[in-house]
Amino acid sequence: MTRRVAIFISGGGSNMVSLVESMTGDHPARPCLVISNLPDAGGLAKASAMGVPTAVVDHRPFKGDRAAFEAELAQVVDAARPDILCLAGFMRVLTGGFVGRYQGRMLNIHPSLLPKYRGLHTHARALEAGDAEHGCTVHEVTPELDDGPILGQARVPVLADDTPETLAARVLVEEHRLYPAVLRRFAAGDRTPILLP
Ligand code: GRF
Repeated sequence: MTRRVAIFISGGGSNMVSLVESMTGDHPARPCLVISNLPDAGGLAKASAMGVPTAVVDHRPFKGDRAAFEAELAQVVDAARPDILCLAGFMRVLTGGFVGRYQGRMLNIHPSLLPKYRGLHTHARALEAGDAEHGCTVHEVTPELDDGPILGQARVPVLADDTPETLAARVLVEEHRLYPAVLRRFAAGDRTPILLP
């Protein structure tokens, strides 16, 4: 049975593009929705160009009322009947109430080697710490931010002349490899972590 995948974005959606492009042929999943919290997210046009239905639930009118925003978000998401939800550059923190609805079938990609550097500015923090390597992690989403079971990691070397921008760009290349690989395995019912060298 083909699994239906909803992808959440807030920006350019490069990870979303990689995921959508991977769901072809004998892949056990297909995209059913790309949804954003911002109407001007560049990824929305990319999703439409690839024939994926899109939706927007702008978080700003809710003025910090997370429960009301998430109630609207869940209604729009549920209408697409997803089996799997992928957060991909989605920049809103979701409450335990929303996560609880989908826990066990919601994934996120985070630009660090979790459990290191939960939260923001991960590349700058890795540089400040003098880490020799950095990377990205795909994990199941749980109510605790950036904390769920790890489903995959990809590592990159940190170079002496790296800036947060150059390091982020190197990590992003690996994100685009890792997330599709994890989604394919997850959609086939296999939670064995994928560790890319
Ligand atoms: C990426 O660094 C990703 O790790 C983070 O958001 C950034 C932009 O992602 N979650 P995308 O290009 O919008 O997929």
